[in-house]
Amino acid sequence: MRANISERLQFLRSFLANPRQVGAVLPTSRRAVGDMLDMADVPAARLIVELGAGTGSHTGPILERLAPDARLVAFEIDADLAAILRQRYDDDPRLEVVTGSAELLGEHLHGARPDIVVSALPFTSLPGDTGRRILEMTRRTIAEDGVFLVLQYSVFVRKTLHQLFGSVQQRWSPINVPPAFLFACSRPHADAQASA
Ligand SMILES: C[S@@+](CC[C@H](N)C(=O)[O-])C[C@H]1O[C@@H](n2cnc3c(N)ncnc32)[C@H](O)[C@@H]1O
Repeated sequence: MRANISERLQFLRSFLANPRQVGAVLPTSRRAVGDMLDMADVPAARLIVELGAGTGSHTGPILERLAPDARLVAFEIDADLAAILRQRYDDDPRLEVVTGSAELLGEHLHGARPDIVVSALPFTSLPGDTGRRILEMTRRTIAEDGVFLVLQYSVFVRKTLHQLFGSVQQRWSPINVPPAFLFACSRPHADAQASA
């Protein structure tokens, strides 16, 4: 489902009000979202978490691939954008929209461990050490064999992802404004580590 004009305008308004927090003038393209979701096995996941869901560029395509009895928890800190998300997908019981910071991830899941975490958070422009704290929280919360999918407009965060997760696959998705770097982060399996 594509964002309509009024949703794009709200996204732009949110960007103008909080450029460092929103980090992009346009929602992510359908093509870049597809390229990103292809880097993990969404249909096999029981629990997926989205960090910084915006107007739902990833939310819709995740729901399209998600199993009927699986769950998607989407965090969005901007109340206006979270309201759009709720309205857009209010008929899908698999989705829970949390209006609040992704920093609440661990607290909110009550011990449940997501198989996939999807993020388009602008890690390099978030205030203070917010980005680092969210990355560390994600590392602690995600399932042992989970996959962390990250979209960025630069490769600055790659080193940190590598330090935290160990394995980082990278793709480039040019059909997006601006072109996007996509990362799929996972922890090397214990048996692979033992034989390394
Ligand atoms: C680059 S936009 C991506 C939006 C959408 N996922 C997309 O790809 O079009 C980043 C989003 O993260 C949200 N955000 C920023 N900091 C956040 C935080 N600490 N917790 C949750 N959401 C946050 C912003 O409000 C914005 O909607």
